[in-house]
Amino acid sequence: MSRKPIIAGNWKMNLLQSEAKALFDGIKDFAKGFSESQLPGIVIAPTFTSLSAVASEKCNCGAGCDKIAIAAQNCHWKSSGAYTGEVSVEMVKDAGCDYVIIGHSERRQYFSETDEMINLKAKSILAGGLIPIICCGETLEQRESGITDSHIASQIKAALDGISSEDVAKSVIAYEPIWAIGTGKTCDANEANRVIAMIRNVVKEVAGVSAADSIRILYGGSVKPSTIEEQMSKSDIDGALVGGASLTAESFNEIIANTMKVSV
Ligand code: PGA
Repeated sequence: MSRKPIIAGNWKMNLLQSEAKALFDGIKDFAKGFSESQLPGIVIAPTFTSLSAVASEKCNCGAGCDKIAIAAQNCHWKSSGAYTGEVSVEMVKDAGCDYVIIGHSERRQYFSETDEMINLKAKSILAGGLIPIICCGETLEQRESGITDSHIASQIKAALDGISSEDVAKSVIAYEPIWAIGTGKTCDANEANRVIAMIRNVVKEVAGVSAADSIRILYGGSVKPSTIEEQMSKSDIDGALVGGASLTAESFNEIIANTMKVSV
């Protein structure tokens, strides 16, 4: 089965509104030159404060740039109430989002997010009609002690617990080895593909063959224009979640262009 790849840019806590708009415009200008079917799915994840500004730059010209989707980098699972500092699914949807990144290792590490919270978020995002990009990954210590697969399988099972097969099918997973994030150390493409195939097997176990065939599973961790072609040539890697290299239009567009050379 052929799955349309996704190249997603996680801007993390970077860029003021004017800078975010300018970066979005640089990606839009590139995507304008192609039809939707020529491009991978393009998703960009600005900070909460830039979501509306970036969404207002979206156009309706009919070319590929129309289809650039916006993701929030987090959300709360409750719809409203006394949760100071939090933002609901309906709020990010209202600001123009189609996707929400959840379970990023930085949120797990610095904000104590648990598998249970990530599951609640995934359910709430899907119920709100948006798509979760569910992150998982192992630390260097876990890799060295040989528990990479069991750790990731348990993260994925917990995240997808109680979600219907149809909803799992439209979700996105990002495999991001923590030791490869922001370090310049990319996971070997064969090894990333092996782990992603293992994740697909876990999805098959919990949601069935059709969901496992449809779900897009991305690789993340120091993805660069020079690494993406090899990564995209692998059987199970359906795209990339890009941090540092998504912060300039030049490198992000090059990642998209190089993806188009091998797949789409
Ligand atoms: P990186 O970040 O590309 O800078 O390694 C990836 C991520 O954290 O999603």
